[in-house]
Amino acid sequence: MAQMAVNLGGIAMKNPVTVASGTFGYGQEYAGLFDISRLGAVTVKGIRACPHPGNPLPRHAEVPGGMLNAIGLQGPGVEAFIRDDMPFLRERGITTIVNIWGTTADEYAEVAARLTDVPGVAGLELNVSCPNVKAGGASFGTQVPTMAALIRQVRRATSLPILPKLAPNVPDIRPFVQAAQDEGADAIALINTLPGMAVDIERRRPILANRVGGLSGAGIHPIAVKHVWEASQVAKVPLLAMGGIFTAKDALDFILVGATAVAVGTATFMDPLAPIRVLEGMEAWLDAHGIADVNDFRGTLEV
Ligand SMILES: Cc1cc2nc3c(=O)[nH]c(=O)nc-3n(C[C@H](O)[C@H](O)[C@H](O)COP(=O)(O)O)c2cc1C
Repeated sequence: MAQMAVNLGGIAMKNPVTVASGTFGYGQEYAGLFDISRLGAVTVKGIRACPHPGNPLPRHAEVPGGMLNAIGLQGPGVEAFIRDDMPFLRERGITTIVNIWGTTADEYAEVAARLTDVPGVAGLELNVSCPNVKAGGASFGTQVPTMAALIRQVRRATSLPILPKLAPNVPDIRPFVQAAQDEGADAIALINTLPGMAVDIERRRPILANRVGGLSGAGIHPIAVKHVWEASQVAKVPLLAMGGIFTAKDALDFILVGATAVAVGTATFMDPLAPIRVLEGMEAWLDAHGIADVNDFRGTLEV
């Protein structure tokens, strides 16, 4: 069978498949459905310094080609995560990537520092699509200097591998990739959801209580493939790709355009076994095509 192990910027993964932050909780809910230690890594839902309640309901809406969500980053805070959730993942030997966020660069750095010596934490994914309260609520991730300053501060705060997770709503992803690696990112994750809105014409109201949300699912896959392909043209560090992976073919699209690893997100809501189905399908496809090592397929797109 094809060799599936990959190195994601210092995170040793036994295969290239993880789950997208926010679509897999902290792993417990899925552990009764399949052996989650078969995954290359588990990426947990976003964690900030303190508990965070998230947005009022409704905060999901099904739309053609995917879903809109405005969960609002509900989470227990870093201390409760370390105490209540991390032992479960650690005891099962699961490579754990912790997605972190904050409303100031100081908060990201604080959370990164706190997680640094926690056993079992393999790396930190930085959700840079959050509002920066010191900049009037503008996202950290849509302006290169703001994002670069954030990564610089987190880099100083931790020795763990860091993976900034890039926002897709930018005209060109390449300057963000360049800035992230220049500031010491070990790998780069992309893409986060795209801003979107759904309305009810009968009630003349937005469907989400938050009015706007993030679009994910099959409809964003071609957008993600383009971003990953463009990112790979300038990336010196490995890429973790996500956006609308439902099948092994979708995952292999990302490896072909240059990604080292992939994350399955929204698909898991329709099929909780999707991450394993994708992994097994990738293995079968590589075997059927005589490719002995998944790393040999990476970036072999002909243009
Ligand atoms: C319900 C939901 C919650 C999410 N929560 C987070 C989060 O906490 N942090 C984060 O960086 N991304 C979050 N995301 C974005 C996903 O990790 C992923 O980048 C995006 O959904 C694209 O992948 P997909 O189309 O396979 O779902 C969330 C997405 C969904 C659908």
